[in-house]
Amino acid sequence: MTESAGSTATDTRIGLATEGLTKRYGGVTAVDGASVQFHHGKVNALIGPNGSGKTTFFNCVTGMIKPDSGRATYLGDDITGKASHRIARAGIGRSFQLCRIFPRMTVMENMLVAVRSTSLRHVLAPSRSAGELDRARELLARVGIDHLENSEARDISYGQQKLLELAGVLMADPETIMLDEPAGGVNPALIDRIASLVRDLNAEGKTFLIVEHNMELVMSLSDHVVVFDRGRQICEGPPSVVQNDPRVLEAYLGI
Ligand SMILES: Nc1ncnc2c1ncn2[C@@H]1O[C@H](COP(=O)(O)OP(=O)(O)O)[C@@H](O)[C@H]1O
Ligand SMILES: [Mg+2]
Repeated sequence: MTESAGSTATDTRIGLATEGLTKRYGGVTAVDGASVQFHHGKVNALIGPNGSGKTTFFNCVTGMIKPDSGRATYLGDDITGKASHRIARAGIGRSFQLCRIFPRMTVMENMLVAVRSTSLRHVLAPSRSAGELDRARELLARVGIDHLENSEARDISYGQQKLLELAGVLMADPETIMLDEPAGGVNPALIDRIASLVRDLNAEGKTFLIVEHNMELVMSLSDHVVVFDRGRQICEGPPSVVQNDPRVLEAYLGI
């Protein structure tokens, strides 16, 4: 899980990639033959108008739903249609657009549940090891909410819930972290904290794949941007190239 070479200029491996990935819901083709390559060791962004299939794409490549056709690979290994715990074990962790935490559990309980859902070993032996508690405390401190350890999750702010979810994802020490709108509904001070966490974790070797509508954040954080429209990639490249691409302006602004 920790074989990452880090965010070095020489790391040119393809991490997560898809070929012709397709997912239909009745008459709606949510992901429509998407062929995408994300760069390992980098901060990648996936952007696109509402309804362009970003969340469905995330769901397909993390085993939440099975694609109808096409292929997904991670560092060259086929992960198409694999169960979510197997994809987690391959080194991919994710957060959800609408924060997924247990509102009536404490912040600490949420941390301990988070790691169990990604690891069979933890499900079979659900004891609170001292190591797990220490790690949970360390990560809560890292995201800046360790003082809320004993609060019920429903009593902390939405931004703090997003930070809790991120800390929960980090419990399993994934080498690739997928975040679905981490800044959505979050106040500016906490957005800055999320941005610096992403930068620091990337410097420590974590790969990111971020769906986000806050363009300032996307353009300042990302090394590589993929643009979706109607379920497929219409453009990709470094932020400076993507933001001036006429196809992107058209998809967003209809001009
Ligand atoms: N569970 C579902 N059932 C039916 N349609 C869905 C479902 N999930 C997504 N869709 C449709 O698929 C399209 C893509 O949605 P989504 O992946 O959520 O886009 P995005 O995350 O880019 O906003 C939309 O038209 C949406 O209404
Ligand atoms: Mg979405």
